[in-house]
Amino acid sequence: MLSIKLITLLAPLTVLGAYTPQSRSSDLVVRDNGQTCTVQSGGSNSTDDSPSFRDAAKQCANGGTLVFKQGVDYYFNTPVNATLNNVNIQLNGNIHLPQNITYVQGIVNGSTGGNVWWINLTGDHLNFTGSTNLSTGWIYGHGQQWWDANPKNGSGIASRPHLWRFNVTNSYLKNIKIRKPIAWVTTLNGNNIDVQNVFVDAATTPNGGFPFNTDGFDVAAKNVKISDFAIYNGDDAVTINNGGENVTVTNGLIAGPGCHGTSIGSLGQAQGVYQTVRNIWFDNIKVHGCVYGSRIKTYLGGQGIVQNVTFSNYDVSNTTFPIYLTQNYFNQGSSQTQNGAGVQDGGNYGGRVDNSSVIIENITYKNWKGDINTYHPGDGSCVTSPCWYDVPGSDGTQAIVIGCSNSTTCKDFRFQNIQVIPQSYAQTQINCTNLDSASNPNLGLVCTNGTLITK
Ligand SMILES: *[C@@H]1O[C@H](CO)[C@@H](O)[C@H](O)[C@H]1NC(C)=O
Ligand SMILES: *[C@@H]1O[C@H](CO)[C@@H](O)[C@H](O)[C@H]1NC(C)=O
Ligand SMILES: *[C@@H]1O[C@H](CO)[C@@H](O)[C@H](O)[C@H]1NC(C)=O
Ligand SMILES: *[C@@H]1O[C@H](CO)[C@@H](O)[C@H](O)[C@H]1NC(C)=O
Ligand SMILES: *[C@@H]1O[C@H](CO)[C@@H](O)[C@H](O)[C@H]1NC(C)=O
Ligand SMILES: *[C@@H]1O[C@H](CO)[C@@H](O)[C@H](O)[C@H]1NC(C)=O
Ligand SMILES: *[C@@H]1O[C@H](CO)[C@@H](O)[C@H](O)[C@H]1NC(C)=O
Ligand SMILES: *[C@@H]1O[C@H](CO)[C@@H](O)[C@H](O)[C@H]1NC(C)=O
Ligand SMILES: *[C@@H]1O[C@H](CO)[C@@H](O)[C@H](O)[C@H]1NC(C)=O
Ligand SMILES: *[C@@H]1O[C@H](CO)[C@@H](O)[C@H](O)[C@H]1NC(C)=O
Ligand SMILES: *[C@@H]1O[C@H](CO)[C@@H](O)[C@H](O)[C@H]1NC(C)=O
Ligand SMILES: *[C@@H]1O[C@H](CO)[C@@H](O)[C@H](O)[C@H]1NC(C)=O
Repeated sequence: MLSIKLITLLAPLTVLGAYTPQSRSSDLVVRDNGQTCTVQSGGSNSTDDSPSFRDAAKQCANGGTLVFKQGVDYYFNTPVNATLNNVNIQLNGNIHLPQNITYVQGIVNGSTGGNVWWINLTGDHLNFTGSTNLSTGWIYGHGQQWWDANPKNGSGIASRPHLWRFNVTNSYLKNIKIRKPIAWVTTLNGNNIDVQNVFVDAATTPNGGFPFNTDGFDVAAKNVKISDFAIYNGDDAVTINNGGENVTVTNGLIAGPGCHGTSIGSLGQAQGVYQTVRNIWFDNIKVHGCVYGSRIKTYLGGQGIVQNVTFSNYDVSNTTFPIYLTQNYFNQGSSQTQNGAGVQDGGNYGGRVDNSSVIIENITYKNWKGDINTYHPGDGSCVTSPCWYDVPGSDGTQAIVIGCSNSTTCKDFRFQNIQVIPQSYAQTQINCTNLDSASNPNLGLVCTNGTLITK
């Protein structure tokens, strides 16, 4: 417990401290018409500040700087859309989402498709810069009450909004600080995006509800760099989704309770839709107390390809499944894909047909060290039986669990220098299905259900 608290306290300072005032002021150089548009605030949550933001965004839509005043609280009582080109957004104050759950649910239910990104930004050369001052420049989701309102055996209450989306090109996001998001935090679409210095605190209070679906980054963009981040959450810290290409994710600290580490997917849920993820590099990642360190997840009967992914220099501690892959993904709470239950049902895959797979190839795991959560595996996200993350036969000694559909669906995997050991100091095991030697000539280990033997 002590170590988690210490990390919690130190992480934002370390991560944000890497940023110098000098580099921040240079970001403020406006290479446009020089206009500054200041977002006005009504001063309390009884005034909706979203219209002021929309006004400022309209005035400074093409060249300009949008400023949230230092230390001021802004209440975004309604969602905002803005298209901004050649614009800097400077968040020196705090943005709050509304605290009334039924009111927010009403907005989500009233939206077309039921998917709302509370802040939806589009544009070219759009920079977002938060404050380096830790006492201001936050986005407050007020999510704790949503997590606490989740009923027993529920996997998150209905009609939750996503926090924000950037669908941008040639853009920078820096010094982002988010506290208690309701659920999904940052969606990235677009091309050529550089993200630096991020702190997401979606850790629940002691005895609080599980922070379901608090994904840190959902990346479906191309040519993206995400670096220097600390994410405490209850789902994937960073996941690369369909369309993600040329993404590097470096220098991260991921912790829970409830975190699910760094991921690819899920892919292949929509059968008949070909999905791709290419050229992804996760490097220098610390994972503490998560269910997974790295995870690749695809659905049975999906189509597409995951190609050229490297997970290097991982330092994992107290992690249930450090290296994990499934081509038979089980999404808790979704009736379409309850194949876990289906397996026990004598091969009835809950309506899914095992006639195709997302092919996974050229995957490298390199330089991993740390320990496996032997004694208290899993987290508080388990509300089905068997549990969604249950691996039959696992006993807290498996550093690697790879479950491929058949001998041709996982190709050119390579493992190098994997030194992850059980907390019991028993021999490290591997659970490995269909990682065929003909398809994987340079595997670097022996694929057996037993003791991990490297070659
Ligand atoms: C955002 O834009 C979309 C598409 O134009 C629209 O459907 C939606 O209502 C807008 N949302 C807001 C809050 O303006
Ligand atoms: C955004 O930031 C980058 C890097 O700091 C800078 O080169 C670019 O000019 C900025 N864009 C705008 C619109 O100011
Ligand atoms: C406004 O703020 C008060 C005090 O923090 C809070 O109790 C109330 O729920 C908030 N209302 C909305 C709509 O966010
Ligand atoms: C919360 O929002 C609902 C729906 O808009 C409203 O009926 C209710 O009065 C609000 N509650 C508070 C405490 O403001
Ligand atoms: C986000 O904004 C863009 C551009 O205004 C719009 O096309 C899109 O539909 C919006 N998305 C949502 C979910 O509001
Ligand atoms: C992002 O913006 C581009 C260009 O405006 C558009 O074609 C694309 O559909 C948008 N993506 C999403 C997910 O909204
Ligand atoms: C991704 O990177 C590769 C190798 O540098 C390059 O050939 C490809 O064009 C890039 N993809 C995109 C969408 O920019
Ligand atoms: C594979 O991905 C790496 C980044 O991890 C990139 O440097 C390399 O160019 C990619 N290879 C190809 C053939 O695109
Ligand atoms: C395969 O992975 C290696 C190591 O990441 C990379 O250098 C190479 O470019 C990849 N090849 C292809 C075809 O993606
Ligand atoms: C590992 O995490 C579990 C929660 O999953 C916790 O109960 C246990 O105390 C942790 N062990 C260590 C050694 O940190
Ligand atoms: C293995 O999976 C691939 C891709 O789904 C499929 O084309 C092939 O028929 C399968 N092979 C066997 C032996 O099941
Ligand atoms: C290995 O993992 C698979 C899931 O990928 C599971 O079904 C199987 O029971 C496990 N085997 C052992 C021996 O742990």
